[in-house]
Amino acid sequence: YVIGVDIGTSGTKTVLFDEKGNAVSSFLVEYPLYQPKIGWAEQDPEDWWNATYTSINNVIKQSGVNPADIKGIGLSGQMHGLVMLDKDGNVLRKSIIWCDQRTTAEADELTEKVGKERLVEITGNPALTGFTAAKILWVQKNEPELYAKTAKILLPKDYIRYKLTGEYATEVSDASGMQLMDIKNRCWSDEVLEKLNIEKNLLGKMYESCEVTGKVHQEAAKLTGLNEGTIVVGGAGDQAAGAVGNGIVKTGIVSSTIGTSGVVFAHMDNIQIDKEGRVHTLCHAVPGKWHVMGVTQGAGLSLKWYRDNFCHAEMDAADGMGVDPYYLMDKQAEKIAPGCEGLIYLPYLMGERSPHNDPNAKGVFFGLSAKHTKYDMLRAVMEGVSYSLNDCMSVIKEMGIDASEVRASGGGGKSKLWRQMQADMFGCDINTINVSEGPALGVALLAAVGAGIYSSVPEACEAAISVKDTMKPIQENVETYKNYFPVYQNIYKSLKPQFS
Ligand code: XUL
Repeated sequence: YVIGVDIGTSGTKTVLFDEKGNAVSSFLVEYPLYQPKIGWAEQDPEDWWNATYTSINNVIKQSGVNPADIKGIGLSGQMHGLVMLDKDGNVLRKSIIWCDQRTTAEADELTEKVGKERLVEITGNPALTGFTAAKILWVQKNEPELYAKTAKILLPKDYIRYKLTGEYATEVSDASGMQLMDIKNRCWSDEVLEKLNIEKNLLGKMYESCEVTGKVHQEAAKLTGLNEGTIVVGGAGDQAAGAVGNGIVKTGIVSSTIGTSGVVFAHMDNIQIDKEGRVHTLCHAVPGKWHVMGVTQGAGLSLKWYRDNFCHAEMDAADGMGVDPYYLMDKQAEKIAPGCEGLIYLPYLMGERSPHNDPNAKGVFFGLSAKHTKYDMLRAVMEGVSYSLNDCMSVIKEMGIDASEVRASGGGGKSKLWRQMQADMFGCDINTINVSEGPALGVALLAAVGAGIYSSVPEACEAAISVKDTMKPIQENVETYKNYFPVYQNIYKSLKPQFS
C-alpha cells in the first residue's frame, strides 16, 4: 500500500491506495481560508498539519490495513504559499497562499531587480503576484522584524514534510513555483537569491519528486498511526501531482482540467520557455523532465457563479430529483446551437493568468441580442471557459509541443458537453481515464517509485492508469468554433485598455 496526501485550499484529502493505484480508503478534513483584506488570502499551517495527521489516522483505521504494509507516503500541495519558521521550527505568521494578490508592487520590484528577460530565462516565468518570491519581498518590506527571525522558508506541503520527518526539504516541481530556481539546472538560483537578498540556507534541500526525503519520526508516528520509519518521498505541487495521476508523463498527452480554475498541462522532455511568459514553464515531477502549463483563473468558478445567480430553478429541481444541478444545466445548454449565435463570454472574473497575465481583466458577455435567453448565456459561459483553455492550448501548440491526445479531468471533466466543446475547439480526441483521484494518486505513485515498487514514474502510471472513454470532434462544430475563436481573442485585445 501507499498513501497520497493532498494539502488543498479547502481541505486536506488523504487516500490510501493499493500498489495498482486502486483507492482503498479516503478521508477529507476541511479548514478555513482567512481574507483579512480584499485580495489577501491566508491559511494557518497548523490547520494543514492537524488535517494531515487526522486524515492519515482515519484512512488507516477505516481500511484495517496494517501500518507495516504501508510502503511510502507522497505529499501534494497547493503551490506558491509562503510558510516562515523560526529557528525552533515554529510558524512565524499565517501562510500567504497562492491566490493572494497583495504583491503587485513586489512583482514589479522582482522584474526590476532580476531583469525582465533574465527572470524568464532563469525561472521560466515573468514576475507573478501569486508566486512565492514576490510574497517573500512583501514580508521583507512590510514585516522586517519577523523576516529577521526567519530561519526557514517552506512551501505548504514541505511544512507537512517537516512535521512528519523533521527534514527541511522540497522537490523540483513545487519549488519551481517559488521563482527562486534555475529551472534548467533544477537547483536554487544563486543569481536570483543574491539579487533579492534572500539567503540560500533559508530554503529547503532540493530533491527530485520520487526521491526519498526522510522518514516518519516517532512523534509523527504516534499522531498519524503510521509506523516510525515509513518513507516520505518528495511529492509534487498539486498541478504536477494531478498530471502524474492523469498519466501526463510523456510527450503527446496533454491534460485539460476544469476545477475552480482551469489548467492545460503538457509534459516536455526538453525545456522550452515562452519568451512572452504567456504560459508557465516549471520542472515536472518526472526526474529530469519539465512541463508547461496554461492557467485560466475563472473556469469552474464561472459556471458556479452562473449557477448561483441564474439557475435557481435547476438547483431546486435537482434537489427534488436527487441529481447534480450541473447535470440539468448541461441538458439545458445542450439545446443551444454551438456558437450561441454570436454570444461570447470572457471568463475573467478573477483577472487572468494565461495567456494575458492581467490581474485587471474582467468577465464579459459580448454580442447579446433580444433573442438570447439565459440558456444561451449558460452555454456561452461553458464555451467561454473552453475558448480560454483553447487560448492556453494554442500557445502550447505554437511552442511546437505535441498535443495529439488530451485527457479531461476535474469536476468540469465529468460534463460530456464540456468535453465535446473541448474536442471541437482543440480539434482532437478528448479522453477520460479510469481513476479520478488526481493529485493524491499522482503522489502515491511517486511514493511507489520511491519505495522501489516501480522502477520509473511512467512505469507506475502505466500500471495504474488507462483510458476509459473517448470523445471525437464533430466537424461541423469544429468549423463554427474556428470562426468564433478569433472573435473571442479580439474582444480581450479591444477591451484591455478599458480594464485597468
Ligand atoms: C498553480 C496554482 C494552483 C494552486 C492551488 O500554479 O496556483 O494550482 O497550486 O491549487
